[in-house]
Amino acid sequence: MKKALLFLFISSILSQTGFAQKETTALTIKNTADAPTINKNIYGHFAEHLGRCIYGGFFVGDTSKIPNTAGVRNDIVKALKELKIPNLRWPGGCFADTYHWKDGIGPKENRPTIVNQWWGGVTEDNSFGTHDFLNMCELLGAEPYLSGNVGSGTVQELADWVQYTNFGGKSPMSDLRKKNGRTEPWKVKFWGIGNEAWGCGGNMTADYYSGEYKKYATFMGDGLNRIASGANSSDYNWTETLMKNVPLNMLGGVALHHYSVIDWNKKGDGVDFTEDQYFSTMKEALKMEELVTKHSAIMDKYDPKQKVALVVDEWGGWYDVEKGSNPGFLYQQNTMRDAVLAGATLNIFNNHADRVRMANLAQCINVLQAVILTDKAKMITTPTYSVMKMYSVHQDAKLLPVIFQSPLYTFNGQTLPAISASASKDKNGAIHISLVNIDAKKTNKIEIDTKDLDAKNFTGTIITAPKLQDYNSFENPNKITPTVFKGFENKKGKLEITIPPFSVVVIEGI
Ligand code: AHR
Repeated sequence: MKKALLFLFISSILSQTGFAQKETTALTIKNTADAPTINKNIYGHFAEHLGRCIYGGFFVGDTSKIPNTAGVRNDIVKALKELKIPNLRWPGGCFADTYHWKDGIGPKENRPTIVNQWWGGVTEDNSFGTHDFLNMCELLGAEPYLSGNVGSGTVQELADWVQYTNFGGKSPMSDLRKKNGRTEPWKVKFWGIGNEAWGCGGNMTADYYSGEYKKYATFMGDGLNRIASGANSSDYNWTETLMKNVPLNMLGGVALHHYSVIDWNKKGDGVDFTEDQYFSTMKEALKMEELVTKHSAIMDKYDPKQKVALVVDEWGGWYDVEKGSNPGFLYQQNTMRDAVLAGATLNIFNNHADRVRMANLAQCINVLQAVILTDKAKMITTPTYSVMKMYSVHQDAKLLPVIFQSPLYTFNGQTLPAISASASKDKNGAIHISLVNIDAKKTNKIEIDTKDLDAKNFTGTIITAPKLQDYNSFENPNKITPTVFKGFENKKGKLEITIPPFSVVVIEGI
């Protein structure tokens, strides 16, 4: 009797920790010739004049003791270059539709100030402007993605911005640029026409905005990648209306914003969260699959050749601001939950590479799901940074579609797919497989047939932590970092992988 009880007790402990799980998920990787390339711009970032993203984040000014290049922190440039940051969206977000770019050029001491009405009502001194941003993008090796002001700006103002940044010949705007110290145009390719036009960008209807879009796009001119302000999560009518009203030759991309928020009135703490809250965050994150699928299907109706990109130019986890911080600054810590969220979302984008060709995590530094946090001269990278770095191998690689039936993550009678995966082959022939186990308790086993993969030697990297709530702090900056992954065996053409709870793994095969 005692023995039987002991057996039951041990089995229960083992199943809670996941060790007892025996089932193995078979995952097939297709080496399909006509699969799309994963556009590197899926790995884009977002710099908004919000809280300490620009000031104290990217930019400290050239008189700062913090090592900088023309005011931009050198440590941040180094960290983002290591991430292979492909593009950077600026200056917002909601801020973009209050921003008048001419306030941010010329001698800094003469620049007018404005009040940042959306983010804390702080005074914006415009010391970080067009030259500062575009020169910074050159330092980073990232394509700039400028978000134009439709809400409170004018068509002329945006057309002038295009000429100021892009025109090589002689014109009033290119002369002004030269007077301000820049001879060669920057040739900015990516232009957002307004932001969240349904909300902070002007509370417009989709019909009204379509008309505005065409007007702005016309005077900005052709030859640019013009991106329309897109839907709020599942507002499919927005995408339908835009696609119906705007000719394809005027449309480079249609945006989509989706944040993983449990409840807009009660978002929950960034660090001190329960498994219930974690499960809800994951549910919101995985909703991206449905959103991307359904918005793409609408786009397919009007654009069967997939000329227009779906641009998810704001995504990420959004929690309550850190206690004691300015509520208007949206500063939050970044835990292992965020690493898992990032890995699962990026797998969704990779697998939809035919239509999703650009995305921007919100926001790069000190705001929402940041990859970098700063505290005066100190700088740390977050678990999300590590996932972006591990996944950078997928940039511009050919997608290898994956087929599998995920085991379930069960919590309180609800279920979610526990495993997410994507794979690609880079230009050197190396195979990369990224796997995420979102289950908070269970280890999962995956078996991959590697016979068709032209790869014999496999190595792996993993990021996980003792607790989901763990994070990197300024006192302990390397608490969560990627390590060598040993949880797999390559047996007779089969990779047997054991993936622990809440972990992200990237396997390389050469
Ligand atoms: O990322 C914070 C804000 O969220 C952005 O400024 C806005 O576009 C969105 O509503």
